[in-house]
Amino acid sequence: MTKKRLTILGSTGSIGTSTLDIVRQFPHHFDVCALSCHSQVQQLAEQIREFHPKIVCIGTQEHADWLKKQFTANDLTIVCGDEGLIQLAAETKVDLVVAGIVGSAGLCSTYAAIERGYDVALANKESMVLSGELMIAKAQETGSTIFPVDSEHNAIFQSLVGHQHSDIEKIILTASGGPFRDTPLANFSEITLQDALNHPNWEMGNKITIDSATMMNKGLEIIEARWLFDIPVSQIDVVVHRESIVHSLVEYTDGSFIAQLGLPDMRIPIAFCLAYPDRLPLQNEKMKMTELGKLHFEPVDWKKFPCLQLAISAANLGGAAPAVLNGANEAVVAAYLEERIHFLEIAGILEKVLDQLCRFQETGKNNIPFLHHIETIDDALKADHWGRSAAHSLIN
Ligand SMILES: NC(=O)c1ccc[n+]([C@@H]2O[C@H](COP(=O)([O-])OP(=O)(O)OC[C@H]3O[C@@H](n4cnc5c(N)ncnc54)[C@H](OP(=O)(O)O)[C@@H]3O)[C@@H](O)[C@H]2O)c1
Repeated sequence: MTKKRLTILGSTGSIGTSTLDIVRQFPHHFDVCALSCHSQVQQLAEQIREFHPKIVCIGTQEHADWLKKQFTANDLTIVCGDEGLIQLAAETKVDLVVAGIVGSAGLCSTYAAIERGYDVALANKESMVLSGELMIAKAQETGSTIFPVDSEHNAIFQSLVGHQHSDIEKIILTASGGPFRDTPLANFSEITLQDALNHPNWEMGNKITIDSATMMNKGLEIIEARWLFDIPVSQIDVVVHRESIVHSLVEYTDGSFIAQLGLPDMRIPIAFCLAYPDRLPLQNEKMKMTELGKLHFEPVDWKKFPCLQLAISAANLGGAAPAVLNGANEAVVAAYLEERIHFLEIAGILEKVLDQLCRFQETGKNNIPFLHHIETIDDALKADHWGRSAAHSLIN
C-alpha cells in the first residue's frame, strides 16, 4: 500500500494509543502528521519524540507553552484549545483523520476534517449521535469517506461490502452485556464504581466503559448505525453475545446472515480503517476457532438496562433528542465517575431530561429552535449543552 499520512485526534486515549501501536508495527505504511490530546501533556511529549508529527494540539495555553519549551526546533507547530484543534484537523494535509476524541468535544474537529474532504476513521460516536445527518450530508458533498472504527459498525461495514442496500433485512448489533449481564436486578443496588469499570471483554476509556455497563453505549451505537448505514431504527436489533467474538451481523432478505468475527481487540477494526482497502498483517493474538467452543446469543434484559430503551426513544423522537440525551448522559456519567450518584440513578435522571425535552416541545414553551430542529453543528452542541445543564440541575 502507498504510505498514508495520518492525523490522530485523541492520541493519548484508548483509540489513539491503539492507533499508534499499529503505526509502530508498520512504520513504512504510515506517517503521523498531527496529534491532539486534552491534558496528558507528558504522554503527548513522548508521542512527539517517537512519531515526529508536524503539528500538535493540547487543551490549554499553559500546556502548549510547556511543550514549546521542550521542543524548540521550528519544525513542530504547537496549538491549543478548541480553535487549535479545528485548525489541526482541517489544515494538516493528510490521507486519513482518526477521530478518537471522547464525547461531544470531538464534534467540531471531526466535522472540520469532513468539511475539508478528508477521509475519517470515526471512533467518536458522538459525532453521529449528535449530528449524524449533517456529518453524512457533508461527507457526501465533499467526497469524504467515513470508515467506522467502533467494532460493531466496522463489522457491519465489512459485512456490507459487495451487497446491495435494498437487500438488507436487518442490522444486528451484538452487545457483550457488560459487567452486569449476569447480575440479578435485585443486586443492582450493591454495584460499585469499580464493578462498573471492570468490563469483562474490552479495555476502553472510562466513559465508554460506564456506558457499556448501563448499555447506553449500545443505544448510542443504534443511533450511530442509523446514520452510518442509512437504515431506520426499526431495522436495527441488539442481541447479547457474551463472548464478543461476532462483532455484528447483517441479515439479508434471503435469510443469509453475514458477520465479521475476531478476538475483541480494537486494533483489528482500527487497522481495517487505516489500511482500507488493504489489510495489515497485525502482530496480535489470532482467534483459534476450535478453542472458542460455544458462542452464545441472548435477548436483552430491558428491565436491567433501561438506558438502551431511552436511547431508542431518543432516536425515534429524532431532532434534538439524541443530542440532548448525549449531553445529559455525559454529565451523568461524569457524576457517576466522581461517585456523586449511584449506578441505579443514571437511567432515572436521563429519563427525566428526555421528559423535560418532550414537555418543552409540546408546549412550545421557551420556543428554542435548536430543541426542535438540528440544522447546524452549533445547534447540535447547544442541544447537547441543554441536556447537560438539565442533568446537572437534577444531579445537584
Ligand atoms: N476505547 C474503545 O475501545 C472504543 C471503542 C469504540 C468506540 N470508542 C469511541 O471512541 C472515542 C474515544 O474513546 P476512548 O475510549 O479512546 O476515550 P479515552 O481513552 O477517554 O480518550 C479520549 C481522548 O480524547 C481526548 N480528550 C478528552 N477530552 C477532550 C476535550 N475536551 N478536547 C479534546 N480532546 C479531548 C483525551 O485527551 P487526554 O487523554 O489528554 O485527556 C484522549 O486523548 C469515544 O467516542 C468512544 O465512544 C472507543
